[in-house]
Amino acid sequence: MNYNLDEYCAHFKSVLENQLERCEKMKNCAEKTDFSKKEKIIIGVIDGDGIGPIIVSETERIARKLLEKEILDGKIEIRRISGLTIENRLEKNQSVPEDVLSEIKSCDVLLKGPTTTPKGGTMESANVTLRRELDLYANVRPVCVPEKNIDWIFFRENTEGEYILGSSGFEIPKTLAFDFKVTTDEGTRRIAKSAFEYAKNNGKKSVSIVTKANIMKKTDGKFSAICHSVAAEYPDITAEEWYVDIMSANLINEDIRHKFQVFVLPNLYGDIITDEAAQLQGGVGTAGSANIGDKYAMFEAIHGSAPRMIEEGLGDFANPQSILRALVMLLRHIGYQDKAKKLEDAMTVCDNENRIVVTGSRENNTCREYTEYVISKL
Ligand code: IPM
Ligand code: MG
Repeated sequence: MNYNLDEYCAHFKSVLENQLERCEKMKNCAEKTDFSKKEKIIIGVIDGDGIGPIIVSETERIARKLLEKEILDGKIEIRRISGLTIENRLEKNQSVPEDVLSEIKSCDVLLKGPTTTPKGGTMESANVTLRRELDLYANVRPVCVPEKNIDWIFFRENTEGEYILGSSGFEIPKTLAFDFKVTTDEGTRRIAKSAFEYAKNNGKKSVSIVTKANIMKKTDGKFSAICHSVAAEYPDITAEEWYVDIMSANLINEDIRHKFQVFVLPNLYGDIITDEAAQLQGGVGTAGSANIGDKYAMFEAIHGSAPRMIEEGLGDFANPQSILRALVMLLRHIGYQDKAKKLEDAMTVCDNENRIVVTGSRENNTCREYTEYVISKL
């Protein structure tokens, strides 16, 4: 047994220093963007990898159609951002190459296609980098299935938990591996606030806090305590806490699931639970995802880049519904409620008519057929 413990302790020290610095930064939160006061709103559009370029270009067509007049009047600019591809990221050895990041930061909001995350190695997921760099702390994911009486909205913490240091763990070969999970007071307070404010402003009566605080005593323990202290500021809203394992069962328990309304969860549980919820709505291809910060916001599909679909030549059959729902959320976020509703209604009509069905399989319709159909219903 001859391990160089100093090396690992130094690594931990630097990780800790960085996290304390982040805590300090969070105290001076950015000013909230007021879109109604902006002369021009810049929407950055990013293709991503795999099925990304296919579903994003179709969604962009719809966005241009919906915002035709505003684009002409110079109130909206749709700005294409290239270079967030796995090839370019690997070549530059940066999860989000610097020049791409600075272009992204020149926009107000982003519509982003899925990006491939290499498994293992040290390359961080582009999503994690962007969520951190733009401080997009609230990952908001609605799931709605009226015929099953399901109307849920998830507030997933998006900048810490298991993700923030997911590429900064360490390994002693053939012996052990360590990863870190970080929960901060301010990081938890701001996501809890987002969830409870949403509940208050949207007539919701209950918020479910999801943790595993019986096991992850420090991190989830803190998440739980802070969520409950925020809950105390909202006496008209019931706050109840569930452990993530039983919550994953609850979502498929027809006797109780309709009672849930708003959820607040740490990052990884939110990642897992929202895929499960999306499946009840028709699959991950159907659920949108909004990454909201005080200054920036990024809207994307809930799913990944589906490289397998590309390998099998099924790219054109990719389902654009998830990213279209992200566009609905983007439009709402920048204050175009009417246009958001128009798109949402057109999608509902298409779904109800059931003439154009995209399932990712050759037997059904293509992405383009679906978006053409949606455009015809706008
Ligand atoms: C999501 C995705 C991402 C995540 C991946 C692509 C890094 O699964 O947005 O849910 O794990 O957060
Ligand atoms: Mg996920």
